[in-house]
Amino acid sequence: MKRPQDYIIFPLDVPTLKEAKRYVELLSEHVGMFKVGLELFIRSGPEIINFVKTSGTAGVFLDLKLHDIPATVARAMEIIADFGVTFVTVHCGETKRMLASAVESSKGRVGILGVTVLTSVLREDIDDAGFRDEFSADISRLVLKRAAMAKAAGCIGVVCSGLEVKMIKQASGKDFIAVTPGIRPSWGDRQRDDQQRVTTPEQAVINGSDYLVIGRPIRDAKDPKEAAIRIAKEIEAVI
Ligand code: C5P
Repeated sequence: MKRPQDYIIFPLDVPTLKEAKRYVELLSEHVGMFKVGLELFIRSGPEIINFVKTSGTAGVFLDLKLHDIPATVARAMEIIADFGVTFVTVHCGETKRMLASAVESSKGRVGILGVTVLTSVLREDIDDAGFRDEFSADISRLVLKRAAMAKAAGCIGVVCSGLEVKMIKQASGKDFIAVTPGIRPSWGDRQRDDQQRVTTPEQAVINGSDYLVIGRPIRDAKDPKEAAIRIAKEIEAVI
């Protein structure tokens, strides 16, 4: 059964392997997964994955955002499938064929999450990239279209903002997994923070999010373990 802390994905956004290991030791009983992004993966690759797996029950979310020709993504996915991670991300910006070949070569050993539209992308970027006006006028249309493409290709879910979860679940079904970053508890210190379109953990779960990527509110807290426990209690109150 899914426990409240299993909703929490903590991103290991730290510059060294040593620091990453310190957070894993501190939080492995209090979060469901650790997110390993491109920077840490390039630096320490499989070593940090093995460390997480041998440190407790928390899983690994490998956020590599793959984007290449289908054959290359497929070969990369065959190797990733051996890592024993829970999720890996693939961009939805190429083709359905690429997503489908990622899913096929994973052989069900890792859940493929589609990255719909990065939150750093602006309306003018969509315009510059040559998309039809309907997509630059309303980026959520592109998010929905790509989520539908990910679903049709066999992905297990998508990464999306907490504000988009409802419409994605409505269109793609409640079992289609939504992983949402941009989470900010009501009590956190929001100074020096670049996240704009934020949701509280409670609201994200009420909206239907299955997993919440929560970094700075835990990492920058005076007591990160205490912050993770507090967030899990808030999640527990609404599930
Ligand atoms: O909670 P915090 O803002 O610190 O979380 C930052 C993490 O969430 C980073 O690992 C970043 O890659 C990830 N992320 C994000 N916004 C997105 C997608 C992922 O902040 N739209």
